[in-house]
Amino acid sequence: MYNITLIPGDGIGPEVTKSVREIIAAAGVDVNWEIVNAGANVMEEEGTPLPEKVLDSIKKNQVALKGPITTPVGSGFRSVNVAIRQKLDLYINLRPAKILPGAPTQFENLDVVIFRENTEGLYAGIEHMVGDDAAESIKITTRKASERIVRAAFEYAKKHNRDKVTAVHKANILKLTDGLFKSVAEEVAQDYPEVEFDNKIVDNMCMQLVQYPEDYDVLVLPNLYGDIVSDLCAGLIGGLGVTPGANLNDELAVFEAVHGSAPDIAGEDKANPIALLLSAVLMLRYLDETQAADKIEDAIGQVLVEAEVLTADLGGQAKTTEITEEIINKIN
Ligand code: NAI
Repeated sequence: MYNITLIPGDGIGPEVTKSVREIIAAAGVDVNWEIVNAGANVMEEEGTPLPEKVLDSIKKNQVALKGPITTPVGSGFRSVNVAIRQKLDLYINLRPAKILPGAPTQFENLDVVIFRENTEGLYAGIEHMVGDDAAESIKITTRKASERIVRAAFEYAKKHNRDKVTAVHKANILKLTDGLFKSVAEEVAQDYPEVEFDNKIVDNMCMQLVQYPEDYDVLVLPNLYGDIVSDLCAGLIGGLGVTPGANLNDELAVFEAVHGSAPDIAGEDKANPIALLLSAVLMLRYLDETQAADKIEDAIGQVLVEAEVLTADLGGQAKTTEITEEIINKIN
C-alpha cells in the first residue's frame, strides 16, 4: 500500500484524476490517496490557492499526482504550479516524449527524455523596465543548478540503459551563461564514460529532432529551451493529450501532465485522461511497479491502435468515462 498525495486541481483536473485512480486500481496497485486541494476554488475558501497543508502532504508522502491548476492571466494569484516547484525545489522537469503506436502524428521514431532545469535561467523572474521604452530580463545560470540537472540526466541514462545524453545550449551567442552550462555538462560527462555525450545548439536541435529523431535519446536543457523543446516534442508525438511529465528532486516527486485545466471542456466528460495516465505510468516506474506500468502502457497502446474509443482531441467522440472503461477492459 502506497500513501500518495493527490491534488485534483481545476477545470478538467477532477475528471482526469478520477479516471487515473480507477485505472491504477484496475492494474492492481493499492494506493491510499491523500486528497488535498489547491487552485482557484481553494483561493475562494481559504484565501490562498496553495495552502501549507498541500506542501506538507507532498513532503510527508514524497510522491504526488497532480491535476492541472488554473493561473489567472494578467492579475490575481501567481502560478500555483510554479510555486510548488519553487517551494519544494523540484529542480528536474522530466518530460519524456515517445511516439506510442497509434498516436495521432505523422512522425516516427521519436523516443527522447527531456531533463529541463526547473529553477533558474530566464525564469528567475528578475525583470524591470528601463525608462518607458525598454525592458530588461536577467538570465541566471549557476554551476550548482547546471551540475545537478546534468547529473540527473546521466543518472537516468545509466539506470534506464539509454545510450546518449545531449546537452542543448546557445553558447555561441550567450558565451557566459550558456557557456557555463555547456562546460559544466562536459565536466559531468567525464564521470559517465559508459554514456555517450554530445552537445547541440538549440536552434539546430529543433531541426534535428524533426529530421533525425532517432539520433537523440536523453536531452538536458536550461529552463527556457527545455520548455520550448519539450512542447516541440509534444507536438511531434501527437499533442498535449498524450504528453506526460514530472517535477522531481532527490527526495520528492510530483507527477503531472503537461496540459492545463482546459476550461473550455471542463465538466463535460470530454477530457482525454491519457496524458495524466502516462504521468502516472512514470510514477509507477518511479515506485518500481514495473508490471502495472507495462500493463497500463500496453492498454493505452491497444486503445490508440484500435482507434474505436478515442476522445475528441484524438479524432474520436468518446467521453472521458468511456475511454477510461475501455482502458480498464484492456487491462483486464
Ligand atoms: P490547456 O492545456 O488547458 O488547453 C489548451 C487546449 O488543449 C484547449 O483547447 C483544451 O481543451 C485542450 N486540452 C488540454 N488538455 C486536454 C485534455 N487532457 N483532453 C482534451 N483536450 C485537452 O492550456 P490553456 O488553455 O493555455 O490553459 C488553461 C489554464 O491551465 C490556464 O489557467 C493555465 O495557466 C493553466 N495551465 C496549468 C498547467 C499546470 O497545471 N501544470 C499547465 C499549463 C496551463
